Amino acid sequence: MHDVLTLFFDDLDLSGVKTPQYLYFPSKLNENINAFNKFVKNNVKIFYALKSNNHPPLVKHIIQSGFGFDAASKEEIVFLLSMGTDPNNISFSAPTKKEEDIQYAAKVGIRYYAFDSEEEIIKIVRNVDSPILFARLAAANKDAVFNLSSKFGMTQEYFSYILRKCKKNNWNVQGLTFHVGSQNTASEAWKAAMLHAEELMELARNKFDMEIRYLNIGGGIPAPYEDHIPSLDYFINNILIYCNDLRKKFPSLELFIEPGRAMSANTMALLTKIIDIKPYKKPPVLVVDTGVFNGIIEPIEHLEYPIYLGNFPESEKSLFRIVGFSCEGYDVIRQNVLLPKTIKPGDMITFMYAGAYTFVYNNFHMVPYPTIENAESVVSDYSESKTILEKAIAKSLSKLEEVKTIN
Ligand SMILES: Cc1ncc(COP(=O)(O)O)c(C=O)c1O
Repeated sequence: MHDVLTLFFDDLDLSGVKTPQYLYFPSKLNENINAFNKFVKNNVKIFYALKSNNHPPLVKHIIQSGFGFDAASKEEIVFLLSMGTDPNNISFSAPTKKEEDIQYAAKVGIRYYAFDSEEEIIKIVRNVDSPILFARLAAANKDAVFNLSSKFGMTQEYFSYILRKCKKNNWNVQGLTFHVGSQNTASEAWKAAMLHAEELMELARNKFDMEIRYLNIGGGIPAPYEDHIPSLDYFINNILIYCNDLRKKFPSLELFIEPGRAMSANTMALLTKIIDIKPYKKPPVLVVDTGVFNGIIEPIEHLEYPIYLGNFPESEKSLFRIVGFSCEGYDVIRQNVLLPKTIKPGDMITFMYAGAYTFVYNNFHMVPYPTIENAESVVSDYSESKTILEKAIAKSLSKLEEVKTIN
């Protein structure tokens, strides 16, 4: 991995540094912002996907750069407003939203809302005055690490059904959106999705007399976890070519893009320490002081962070598996990685480009975990709660009997 970040690391004395710990590099964010500014210069509005990294100094910097934000929850909106974001620069792009979150968004003046079902559009229109509605379409994503169209995104057939409903109910769909999958290493994915969007814009115009004025081309630009991944500039330049082609046919189309990972991943590195080794496993297992329950979740879906060992003495290499310290078998950070044979507990392992979708899982979308209440405190006296419990047990036993009889 040849990167200014590693050169920077080479000059840092990390001995005695606390682990696990993230190191944040504001200058990397600055570089990313400068690169993404090319979209702004070409009239494509940027809405950074806050869910990927909400570190306040990073968010502040993005606000100062004039970019907007893609929010996924009321909590994210509250945070963005507290940081000074203008509600006009927030797009509520999550295709499924809680109704109370929509009500809050409406109250604070958010205008852009995505949907991909009739249920969702109804929730939006009954709570928001004149929303700008974006229909989320499914998109092909064979070169992406994370598929974001398996749960979300309408088929063409369902989209036609929705347009008919919109026409009938006077719901004003003005935008389309899609997500080609996160960490998508093929820029052609945007081309294909935009051609599909173009087809549906024509369908809306010709069959339903509806004009699509906005296209939000989502996130998905990859971070440079592997050397073969083309540069950020390559993706920006190619995507801009597709945008300009589309504008030739739809000159007044407003274009939005929602990068998450490509803006935040390379702004942070995660320092960890080896705390145990199991030499009898094949390959030998190195246990580090973090893992899936500390936010290193994406490796479960086969994402691999580049590893940096610092000025480790050159030695013969052999295969290792790097795992988190929890007892869960799926808590694996790298299945197979070549490391110096002499690596041992106490040595540091740094996961590079760990700024996206890591520590945010502490409370993803900034939504806290449910609270825990004492179920029996809902009934006032103990004898009553005992009766309820006995009744429940009797009911479940009779259910078991029923199953046995059927079998
Ligand atoms: C609606 C939406 N926009 C943008 C993004 C950002 O995607 P990425 O981090 O792949 O750029 C996401 C990620 O989940 C998303 O759901």
